[in-house]
Amino acid sequence: MASAAALAHPNIAFVKYWGNQDESFRLPSNGSISMNLDGLFTRTKITWNENRKSSKDTLTLNGVPITGRALQRVSNFLDLVRQMAGLDLRAEVVSENNFPSGAGIASSASAFAALALASTRAAGLDLEPGALSRLARRGSGSACRSIPGGFVEWTAGTSDEDSFAATIAPPEHWPLVDVIAILSSAHKTTGSTEGHALAGTSPLQAARVNDAPRRLDLCRRAILERDFAAFADIVEADSNLMHAVMTTSSPPLFYWQPGTLAVMQAVRAARLNGQPACTTVDAGPNVHVICEKASATKIVKMVGSIPGVREVRAAQAGGPARLVEVE
Ligand code: PMV
Repeated sequence: MASAAALAHPNIAFVKYWGNQDESFRLPSNGSISMNLDGLFTRTKITWNENRKSSKDTLTLNGVPITGRALQRVSNFLDLVRQMAGLDLRAEVVSENNFPSGAGIASSASAFAALALASTRAAGLDLEPGALSRLARRGSGSACRSIPGGFVEWTAGTSDEDSFAATIAPPEHWPLVDVIAILSSAHKTTGSTEGHALAGTSPLQAARVNDAPRRLDLCRRAILERDFAAFADIVEADSNLMHAVMTTSSPPLFYWQPGTLAVMQAVRAARLNGQPACTTVDAGPNVHVICEKASATKIVKMVGSIPGVREVRAAQAGGPARLVEVE
């Protein structure tokens, strides 16, 4: 039985992906920029089962057998790998996350990045990083950004061939820390796959997408020049723009909780007081507070004392998806 195991980090987007040009290929409406999160990971082992009697793929997540839509999504992804490798076998997938799934820390990103690497290697394929990123994108758009390491840009592209992510700076380029204020680890009610499909119903989405090249330029430059003030302005503006689209879609999507705004306001006040920190929020209530490493201890303490914050995790820039020992 051919097995392989891989580890991938989730990532936090500084310029966000929201909405697709093509839903089935997960071709995004706009490019995005993110940082991988060291210390948080999905570790996935896959075995292609040579027993031809097994008719179904199986998935175990954190020790629990998974069926239904989540398994179907993994099977659909594995169909792509079977097609590429000319394989007619079912797979056993065993996956672990060391962070809560489905609450604004993109677990689908690390999950499909790890699965893309492990499943192709176990099938005897050795894809170059761009091709692996394109494949991961088919499982979850943001997963394409968890293939390369450090600070990453996903070029939107116009077709399956030219829509993938690449490193713009290695992890050690800028010691930023993502201090994650976890308000809830419950599974979100509207997942991002359904959310992307609603983006176009907001009259604000076209403006957000048309302005994306400008935001990408500002964000890329701020990262390359390690200019925190410029970085903070564009990261907060971009997150707020995405939530403006979400809250004006039909039906509208409200991911924030009262604690979300409390953290955003406290961080804004801290920044006005000279602390290099800013916030960004994905499709969930948790707040990612991005700060420089020198301020991280202070920020962790400050964020942890805000009512509604149940747990705080901190992560620096992480490396690429990689193979690990099969246990
Ligand atoms: O990759 P998806 O379909 O889970 O979408 C991710 C969407 C956001 O996390 C809200 C933004 C982003 O760019 O990561």
